[in-house]
Amino acid sequence: MALLETRGLARRFGGIQAVRDASLAVEAGEIFAIIGPNGAGKTTLFNLVSRVYPADAGQILLAGEDITRIAPHRVAALGVARTFQNIELFERSTVLDNLLVGRHCRGRAAPLAELLFTRANRRAEVAHRDKVERIIELLELQAHRDTSVGALAYGVRKVVEIGRALAAEPRLLLLDEPSSGLNAEETEDLSFWIRDIRDDFGITVVMIEHDMRLVDLVSDRVLAMDRGAVLAVGAPAAIMADARVVEAYLGG
Ligand SMILES: Nc1ncnc2c1ncn2[C@@H]1O[C@H](COP(=O)(O)OP(=O)(O)O)[C@@H](O)[C@H]1O
Ligand SMILES: [Mg+2]
Repeated sequence: MALLETRGLARRFGGIQAVRDASLAVEAGEIFAIIGPNGAGKTTLFNLVSRVYPADAGQILLAGEDITRIAPHRVAALGVARTFQNIELFERSTVLDNLLVGRHCRGRAAPLAELLFTRANRRAEVAHRDKVERIIELLELQAHRDTSVGALAYGVRKVVEIGRALAAEPRLLLLDEPSSGLNAEETEDLSFWIRDIRDDFGITVVMIEHDMRLVDLVSDRVLAMDRGAVLAVGAPAAIMADARVVEAYLGG
């Protein structure tokens, strides 16, 4: 069974059919890339899956469970985390605090228990910190842990955002253009981290990405979109050589 499946998803904004009849299936453990020219509907597809916008038509299934109409906050609780095309973090908080905030959807003790600071509570807090430390280590953020996010270089902030998403311990991680604004060295680091996220944490990754080298390096399969529709799905080399995909990029 696919971890994420969409069937005939559609969403219109005014006169624009941003996503049309989009069906896809991502297997557990895959690194799955979504490519396509600007305006193809890639981010809208993420927004539909993470329930930022309701779909006009179609279905979204997570491990076989229909999540098409669940409340947006429940998507995170069911194990879907994402990053945004424009970084969304608490700029004035430290890296460590941003990652700890990322764990809040994991469910916390009741407010009264929290006040009492019970042993169970303390244990939960320690567990939260352990998880966050593993993420800091994986993403090599040790040097920045106590720095305010607003004071960090753009490339580091992007990595912190991935860390914040990981802190929620998702089954499925949606990355929207993770390499945009990164230099060549940072992009190479990213390629290792994406594979580590899948291999060490067992998280399925779906990433929207423009850098074809990165797509080719890390993806098991690639889906190409154009004008809201799925053009083709397949192995990276096959998709990049696909005449319809090449034409979509030339046309855009
Ligand atoms: N909230 C919105 N309101 C109006 N139009 C939108 C909105 N979100 C996306 N669109 C439009 O939908 C189309 C697809 O956008 P998007 O999904 O962001 O594409 P991509 O991520 O592939 O570049 C574009 O024409 C865009 O302008
Ligand atoms: Mg986009």
